[in-house]
Parts: sequence; structure tokens; C-alpha cells
Amino acid sequence: MSVWRTSISTQWRLRRFVMADYDQVAALWSEAGDGLQIRPSDQPEGLALKLTRDSDLFLVAETTAGLVVGVIVGAWDGRRGWLHHLAVHRAFRRQGIATALVAATEEALRAKGCLKVNLLVQKANASAIHLYRSLGYSDMTSICAMGKELAPDANEAAAQPAALGK
Ligand SMILES: CC(C)(COP(=O)(O)OP(=O)(O)OC[C@H]1O[C@@H](n2cnc3c(N)ncnc32)[C@H](O)[C@@H]1OP(=O)(O)O)[C@@H](O)C(=O)NCCC(=O)NCCS
Repeated sequence: MSVWRTSISTQWRLRRFVMADYDQVAALWSEAGDGLQIRPSDQPEGLALKLTRDSDLFLVAETTAGLVVGVIVGAWDGRRGWLHHLAVHRAFRRQGIATALVAATEEALRAKGCLKVNLLVQKANASAIHLYRSLGYSDMTSICAMGKELAPDANEAAAQPAALGK
């Protein structure tokens, strides 16, 4: 995984996320646009918790200068694999970095016995949809995605429009 790759003029490699990457990863997510929503679980405590479960599925792409230019949070729940928070720095897009991050996560999931990978993507996120379709993902048109907040004050906050997106 830590092999250096060259695309256009950039040399980069994939490696596991470590907490020292937090600021760069948080910046990537906050600059990613509407396709990616920052949630309470994206705070350092949430990411540290994630690392206690399956740190081998939380990957970054870094350049030879140590700049983190891509990230993916893979997850394995024992039945399905999940892909979350894939993002690539704007200046490094269309160089195959997201493709490599997804491929490495799929490989790690396969090694755990995972037979199917799911993800959620905003319907308006055309670039991500193009990417995932190009990698063999298909729309699950009969599915209604559902969720429930478990954080103590989350439902109260979500009821107030000004607090949305916290
Ligand atoms: C979506 C995203 C991760 C793609 O990253 P990337 O490193 O540029 O993707 P890749 O270079 O691996 O692209 C592989 C293929 O995906 C498709 N693709 C990627 N971006 C695309 C775009 N903007 N428009 C159309 N197709 C696109 C193309 O088929 C591309 O192959 P090509 O470059 O040979 O045409 C990046 O645009 C991003 O960070 N977006 C903001 C965050 C986000 O929305 N994340 C997804 C959350 S679900």
C-alpha cells in the first residue's frame, strides 16, 4: 500500500491515517463542498474511536512533501463494508487518487471476508456518482436511506434549522 505512485507531476502514496493527520484531513473534508457533511463523529474523539475498531480501513494519500491530499474512511460491520468521507484535494483531482483509495479499501475489506460494499452519496454529487459508477458501483434505486441520531442533544439541534449541519 505504501508504494509511491506518480500521476501527472505528483508523487503520492497511500497509508493509514494517524491522529497527526487530523488537521489536514479536517481541512480536506471542510473544503470538499456540499457532497460531504461534517458530523460530530468527525471530531478528533470520534476519529480516535474509529481507530480502535478498524484502523486499516482509514486511509490517506500523501505526497512526498507530506501533504495529505486524499482520504477515505472505510468501515466493516461484520456483514457489509461501508465507504465514508472520500475526498481529494481540489488541486490533485483526476489523477486516480480516489480510485486508488477505494481500491485499497475494497482490498482490505475483501481480506476481512466482506462480500458487499455500500455507500451513501448525495443525489446532486455528480462527480462522486460518476466516480463510483466508473468503479462498478450501481444505484440501489429501491432503497430508502434512513438514520437516527443517538447523540443526546442531536434531535433537538436538528429541529432548529440554524443548527443544521453541526
Ligand atoms: C469525488 C472525488 C473524491 C473524486 O476524486 P478524484 O481523485 O478526482 O477521482 P479519480 O481521479 O480517481 O477519478 C476516477 C474517475 O471518476 C470519474 N470522475 C471523477 N471526478 C469526476 C468529475 N468531476 N466529473 C466526472 N467524472 C468524474 C471519472 O470517470 C474519472 O476517470 P477519468 O479522470 O479518467 O475521467 C473528488 O471530486 C472529491 O473530493 N469531491 C468532493 C468530496 C466528495 O464529494 N466526496 C464524495 C462523498 S460521497
